[in-house]
Amino acid sequence: MCGIVGYIGHGTSVPFLLDGLRRLEYRGYDSSGIAVIDPKGVQITRAVGRIDQLATAIAEQKPSGPLGIGHTRWATHGPPTEVNAHPHQGGNGQVVLVHNGVIENFQPLREELIAKGYVFHSATDSEVIAHLIAECYDELAAETDPEARCIQAVRVAINQLRGTYGLAVVFPACPQMMIAARFGSPLVVGVGRGVHYLASDASPLAGHTDRIVYLADHQLAILKANDLTVLHRDSGVVRHDIQRLETETQQISLDGYPHYMLKEIHEQPDSIRNAMRGRLDDQNATAIFGGLNLTPQQLRSVDRIILTGCGTSWHSALVGEYLIEEFARIPVEVEYASELRYRNPPIEPGTLVFGITQSGETADTLAALVETKRKGHRTLAINNVVGSSIAQAADGGVYLHAGPEIGVASTKAYTSQCCTLAMLALYFGRLRHMSYEAGQEFITALRRLPAAVEQSLTCESRVREVAEKYQSATTFLYMGRQYNFPTALEGALKLKEISYIHAEGYPAAEMKHGPIALVDEHTPSVFIVPRGTTYEKVIANMEEVKARSGPVIAVTCHADPAIDNLADDVIRVPETPEFLQPIVSVIPLQLLAYNVALLRGCDVDKPRNLAKSVTVE
Ligand code: F6R
Repeated sequence: MCGIVGYIGHGTSVPFLLDGLRRLEYRGYDSSGIAVIDPKGVQITRAVGRIDQLATAIAEQKPSGPLGIGHTRWATHGPPTEVNAHPHQGGNGQVVLVHNGVIENFQPLREELIAKGYVFHSATDSEVIAHLIAECYDELAAETDPEARCIQAVRVAINQLRGTYGLAVVFPACPQMMIAARFGSPLVVGVGRGVHYLASDASPLAGHTDRIVYLADHQLAILKANDLTVLHRDSGVVRHDIQRLETETQQISLDGYPHYMLKEIHEQPDSIRNAMRGRLDDQNATAIFGGLNLTPQQLRSVDRIILTGCGTSWHSALVGEYLIEEFARIPVEVEYASELRYRNPPIEPGTLVFGITQSGETADTLAALVETKRKGHRTLAINNVVGSSIAQAADGGVYLHAGPEIGVASTKAYTSQCCTLAMLALYFGRLRHMSYEAGQEFITALRRLPAAVEQSLTCESRVREVAEKYQSATTFLYMGRQYNFPTALEGALKLKEISYIHAEGYPAAEMKHGPIALVDEHTPSVFIVPRGTTYEKVIANMEEVKARSGPVIAVTCHADPAIDNLADDVIRVPETPEFLQPIVSVIPLQLLAYNVALLRGCDVDKPRNLAKSVTVE
């Protein structure tokens, strides 16, 4: 939520800032702004709306200078207006900053600063930080070294903050330096030749440099054109490791697709292949996970697993529950991270806690892991973004290797999470009672999965017809059972978040306990009904909807008169073993949501009110 960029070099900062903000726009998109500093002073340009509005304002105002910071906002405190857009200035303009995060004690700090004569222009918590730093800067007037004065002012000010921050701070009096500070909101520094870059994640850096430094909590980075120093907030210099950025520019471009969501839906055969790459061990009929940081003995003694996450990641956790309980026979609980973090459940010593996340930055998932870790439990992450906060906080984990997911609605990360959870079920199963032959069969099914997903994507034109037919519905119901109950939830979430149509997912048999009251001739019900243990029972549920004149859309595998005669519309997907069917069956539901949203003129990649990484509670 909110994206930050910064540039300090010898050229002009504006092209990097603007392009970087476009790449971070998925983190928030209600307003944006940049501040550019040259020896003559500071030029601030801000705009309400998408980055295109900012680009227009920049084209008019033509700011230019070798030091700049920028921000794209997802409003927390104060509506999306130009005065609330970042950058914010502190004092009489001694300080200019951009902020990502939430300052919990902003109200008392604001009142104190107002009492001291500071004038606030915005309703944001971020402006408090700017004035606080300005106040500290003024109090340090006796400091003769201008750089030391700026650094100390930031240090003293951030020590008074409660909450989270990723900050980029510049001082017009010190135009050769930018200060970044991190606590709870991610920041990455890019190291170039005669230039340093700053960003909330690595995507703006692709194509500019492949050398990056992930800042950790409580760290400050002092960026100059030719120098980078990392400090601990309260002590001296800390050694920083320069890591290699794997992201390529092509991965973050549309590559000919009209939307990132469609591109990412189509990338799924490859993203699933990448999730499995190097992880299937045919010889031992198991999976290999290098990053769990647990010995086989420790893993064998696990007697309970908690899977936690939010939104779509929580849905993949539900799929994981079915997988791990069936194949590893370990009891699994699935918890919303936002609930787990404040609950105080009894957790026995043999419990392993997995946080599942695409971004690795979701505040609730991070907090749930930190809290369980504090109580002494092993915490692991299933995470897509290398170097993210959750990757840093967990004791170990598994990367999805799905590549950057930019569309706000998660698609390829979800199927990679489900696939990774399947491999974990195999791994835990083989450490316990699963036979060699069963392990081999499991691996064979996994290896066939990318091709099945590829084939599933061929339903696109059929899905488009269905989307056209039902685009004006005001409510959709999604129903499935067992492994495909989470698929129903995920299909409903996809539709509602990008098309703004009310949609609910249910275990099909639950329909009779309330939701059936919604069924009428205008309310389509999407049934996920591949062959499996509850096949006939789901068909019976379809009959119940049909008997009440409800339109039925069936996502199924083979032709079956029982379904073909009953359903108004049938979408076929390939058949896989039941435990992998959610990965294949979700594809038409992603495409349905995409096409309905498109037909309704919605902004598919940037749905209203949402942001890609939810870094506030
Ligand atoms: C829905 C969606 C969200 C995220 C949720 C968790 O399409 O993308 O529901 O799944 O905000 O995000 P991560 O997985 O980044 O922790």
